[in-house]
Amino acid sequence: MRLLGLETSCDETSVAIVSSDGLRSFVVEKSLIASQAAKHAEYGGVVPEVAARCHVNVVFPLLEAAGVSHDGADIDAIAVTAGPGLVPALRIGVEAAKTLAFAWKKPLVAVNHMEGHIASAFIAAVETPPEFPAVCLLVSGGHTELLLMKNFCEYELLGRTRDDAAGEAFDKVAKLLDLPYPGGPQISKHALEGKRGAIDFPRPMLDSKDFDFSFSGLKTAVAVYLKTHPESLSPNPSPNVGGGIEDVCASFEQAVVDVLVEKTIKAVAKTNAKSVIVSGGVSANLLLREEMKNKLSPLPVFFPSLEFTGDNAAMIAAAGAWRAERKEFIDPLKFEADPNLRLA
Ligand code: KG4
Ligand code: ZN
Repeated sequence: MRLLGLETSCDETSVAIVSSDGLRSFVVEKSLIASQAAKHAEYGGVVPEVAARCHVNVVFPLLEAAGVSHDGADIDAIAVTAGPGLVPALRIGVEAAKTLAFAWKKPLVAVNHMEGHIASAFIAAVETPPEFPAVCLLVSGGHTELLLMKNFCEYELLGRTRDDAAGEAFDKVAKLLDLPYPGGPQISKHALEGKRGAIDFPRPMLDSKDFDFSFSGLKTAVAVYLKTHPESLSPNPSPNVGGGIEDVCASFEQAVVDVLVEKTIKAVAKTNAKSVIVSGGVSANLLLREEMKNKLSPLPVFFPSLEFTGDNAAMIAAAGAWRAERKEFIDPLKFEADPNLRLA
């Protein structure tokens, strides 16, 4: 099956063409991502109306650039992110997909963005895909969730953040440090030069019996530390002398990673999972990848390839293939974006 995927849930406009052969085999023929991050950096975060305007401007030029035929003759189905996400942003992709499905008379699939992030790990693992049940840690700018994937399209929620998402914590701490948006890659970069044990930031909810997370207290701890240690807003005086922004980034990053890894280990123990999937924007974090693999070994841990960690339409098309296989098509005349869509 050859699917056209569209993704506009946040600040990336993306179009992809993906061929699927069964549920585990994907070939990404085209993947185009137009990021608006630089635009939103001016505001320090994503502004929904600005995002929508940017999506409108580029969605059809991207379809053209991807070489999508004007009659859709070589496309079997259209998959689009239906939610969760920012309503004004989601609607651009949804309306474009509805229009194409209506005009081309092609089946339309409404994809949950989080299922797209899960599917991104399957794109990278075509040879030996994750076995079920799999514990999925979804870590992005808007979500932090632990799910049990019992089979394709079958999920059970284990836990989620009670306040900020992990990526949001990276973004907010970056703001405190005067680093540009998005904060995750910036903090990781500075952390490479810092000492991870320099500051003892809290590991929120590490010992709680459930699988929930909380990151807003950690962000506040960083804010309090910066107030009492204003010198740490400057770079380390030299690589051997700590006390600068590098140590704050390294210690903060370690605290987030410790919580994510420990909770995942506990989830595996409780569910007897056969594999772990870590995906979403924060899964690009190299410390997280390293520690997940080391501490869960010999259990296989799957990540998307780096090009598909952030929001992209290839993962939406891949998840769309799972839903299309089940014939879960949606009538373009009755379909609206749902910002609160849940997987489980
Ligand atoms: O999945 P995504 O692209 O968009 C959402 O659906 O939210 O995730 C974006 C988030 C941002 O918060 C960004 O700071 C974070 O992913 N991120 C990272 C890294 N790269 C991106 N966080 C930590 N380390 C990274 N290397
Ligand atoms: Zn996302």
